[in-house]
Amino acid sequence: MRAALETPGLLSLAAGFTDNATLPVAALGTVFAGLTEGVRRAAASATPRASGMDAEFLQYGTNAGRPGLRALLAARVLEQDGEEATVEAIAARAEQTFVTNGSQQALYLAVQTLCEAGDIVLVDRPSYFVFLELLGGLGVQARSMPVGADGRLDLPALAVLLRQMRANGERARLKAVYFVSWFSNPSGRTLEATEKAGLATTLRAEDCVVPVIEDAAYRELGFARESAKAQRGVLRDPAWAGFARLYTGTLTKPFATGLKVGFGMCDHPGWRAAMQHVKGHHDFGTANFAQALLERAIMGGAYEVQLAVLRETYQKKRDTLHEALACGGLYELGWRWRVPEGGLYLWLAAPEGLDTGWASKFCQLCLAEGVLYVPGELCHGDAAPVNTVRLSYGVLAPAALAEAGARFCRAARRVGEGSGQV
Ligand SMILES: Cc1ncc(COP(=O)(O)O)c(C=O)c1O
Repeated sequence: MRAALETPGLLSLAAGFTDNATLPVAALGTVFAGLTEGVRRAAASATPRASGMDAEFLQYGTNAGRPGLRALLAARVLEQDGEEATVEAIAARAEQTFVTNGSQQALYLAVQTLCEAGDIVLVDRPSYFVFLELLGGLGVQARSMPVGADGRLDLPALAVLLRQMRANGERARLKAVYFVSWFSNPSGRTLEATEKAGLATTLRAEDCVVPVIEDAAYRELGFARESAKAQRGVLRDPAWAGFARLYTGTLTKPFATGLKVGFGMCDHPGWRAAMQHVKGHHDFGTANFAQALLERAIMGGAYEVQLAVLRETYQKKRDTLHEALACGGLYELGWRWRVPEGGLYLWLAAPEGLDTGWASKFCQLCLAEGVLYVPGELCHGDAAPVNTVRLSYGVLAPAALAEAGARFCRAARRVGEGSGQV
């Protein structure tokens, strides 16, 4: 990877980073000016003590996060879940909310507090590879939930798997189920409401009411604003009643990625307390300043404006990459992919048997052409197919995306011809 990244002129379709050109520099400047303005005024007129209190955003915050931000997040998610955001509902949800250093930290806290080494977590197939790495780092096994050819969960096959786990004595080690519900990384797929409810029903029927971790990192990045409401999150989905539920979300991808603020919402007091306890050991609170900026950005409307910009930008970039691949002849070479309606990724299946792993000829040809991707084998908890690829259209500008797509197609042609001198 390092050698590849040091290659001059290499275009990376690998990193799940966001679009640099649209990062909200001006909006954050205004938000920052608004925050500091009050302090400067207070400093000019009041006692030093009073002005010091006004700059509370430059002081440590609390472990759970700023109350104002938690309430705003609660209101947003309630609205997306089609619930009335009454004062009581917001207060109850805010109580379940804790702010984290990106949603990645919430995922880590979840697994660390649920699992011991040797335990098992059910994951989607394919799954978010940093989550899989996290499991591996804690010695926890990922077990993929079976899917059909269309990528939908195969619930009868899942029931069989759960029965086999019981028969093998593995059931006691099954500690959680994890999935990305909207515009998944890496597949770009959104779970259907009935599919998600069916998963709960199957787990319940097989006596596997284990904690559920719903990752909603891309919920707000659907190209149609309304897609965030296409289904309820697990916290409001009656099918999941009785499960201990954690819903994770983020403000990184939809706004200023570098502020690295995410959140968890958990309806199980004991689990939530355990996560917050461990968070206390990590950092006793996410950067208060970053939270204060986001609080103002949401309250003042800059967050929503940025989302509208991103939706349009990413849709165009998706089109650019998709068209580069289609025009480059990838379909004719037997490659297949779905065109996602949100998120940052195209998930490609190469012709059966074509190896796309790091060590593969195809990967070397891509590097020789000057393009980098994520081999799909990294995105599988187990029994990884060799022929899948994740491409991100997040970072590169449109012209670079088109060129990267063309390079990718050239590598696919060369490996298909069997000629490819690297
Ligand atoms: C599916 C998914 N979940 C969670 C995260 C973590 O993101 P962050 O820590 O920036 O919130 C990512 C980042 O790429 C992701 O793709």
